[in-house]
Amino acid sequence: MIRYGIIGTGWIAKAFVDGTLLGEEMRLAAVCSRDASRGEAFAAPYGGAVVYTDPAAMAESDIDAVYIASPNFLHPAQARLFLEHGKHVICEKPITVIPEELEELQALARSRGLVYLEAIMMMHLPARQALREAVSKIGRVTTAHLDFSQLSSKYPAYLAGQTPNIFNPACCTGSLMDLGIYCVYPALDLFGMPEGISASAGFLNTGADGWGTAVLPYPGLQVTLTWSKVGQARQGSQILGDEGTVTVQSISCLTGITRFERDGTVHPIWGEEQKATLMGAEASDFCRYIQNPADTHYQLCQTRALEVSRVMAEIRRLAGISFPGYEEAMT
Ligand SMILES: NC(=O)c1ccc[n+]([C@@H]2O[C@H](COP(=O)([O-])OP(=O)(O)OC[C@H]3O[C@@H](n4cnc5c(N)ncnc54)[C@H](OP(=O)(O)O)[C@@H]3O)[C@@H](O)[C@H]2O)c1
Repeated sequence: MIRYGIIGTGWIAKAFVDGTLLGEEMRLAAVCSRDASRGEAFAAPYGGAVVYTDPAAMAESDIDAVYIASPNFLHPAQARLFLEHGKHVICEKPITVIPEELEELQALARSRGLVYLEAIMMMHLPARQALREAVSKIGRVTTAHLDFSQLSSKYPAYLAGQTPNIFNPACCTGSLMDLGIYCVYPALDLFGMPEGISASAGFLNTGADGWGTAVLPYPGLQVTLTWSKVGQARQGSQILGDEGTVTVQSISCLTGITRFERDGTVHPIWGEEQKATLMGAEASDFCRYIQNPADTHYQLCQTRALEVSRVMAEIRRLAGISFPGYEEAMT
């Protein structure tokens, strides 16, 4: 049984705990919130978790692992803290802000025999293999358009003049870091590293990117990625071959996958899934890797995370997405 702590008490932290409850490998033993009463309220339904207000104190405790669900700018320092205290780390996306941090922290985890995993659902879902098989059946693929555009629940606050974390460059957030990453992951997972990248973004008056596009060219194939937090897409993603088409309603969850033959014949491939099921899959793999850090899928996740981080950094450079205080402190 892996006894783990959580940092952050947002809805995604609750979804993760609910996901772990589908299995019996992990038990919530600690919660870290800046506010003790918020931590108590989070922990109450699960029973028995110790509440901390300081990550350093939680790192000193006897937990085995931590799930980091704090704002992006805190991920690298918090991961380092827990790795240095001998804890396995599963961290929300993006696992770090810049790829050099990721390389360094991956090396630290390796040197301590610890698991350090980016919480990317699609890498742990059976639908990932089903998507690959569907794409292998549509002939020569020349075009793919992967989209994750979801109107943010925080957009009204932004319009009212506030700066929620998600639209605050000081938190290293914005639409690429929040949603665009979910397009980059399957693009690299399906097609590998591109021959080049072009990218652009649109900005809100907080300085955060609200929407963006990247084009990834491959030999005989062009992959276009689009994402937005200020508009709601309804059509999902499409991969076009000369013998058929694959559509994916949710590119982050790999749900709603359909293959169409050239004549229009429809093959449903994958339906809907509960959020807890999606989160449970990554939690279960995390536990498996802790038992065996040499696991080949864990090694693939490490490589993929670094590739994605490098592509994200290049998209940011090309599109002019910057996180002023953070990046200056890194150089
Ligand atoms: N996998 C997914 O589907 C998914 C979905 C949503 C988000 N995420 C990722 O999960 C992470 C958290 O996202 P979120 O939208 O929940 O973020 P958030 O609401 O901005 O912050 C998450 C939690 O961190 C704490 N926090 C907030 N601001 C902080 C600050 N300035 N300093 C220290 N702690 C702070 C808060 O907990 P306390 O007040 O209790 O300290 C808050 O509940 C992000 O990295 C995001 O990319 C993943």
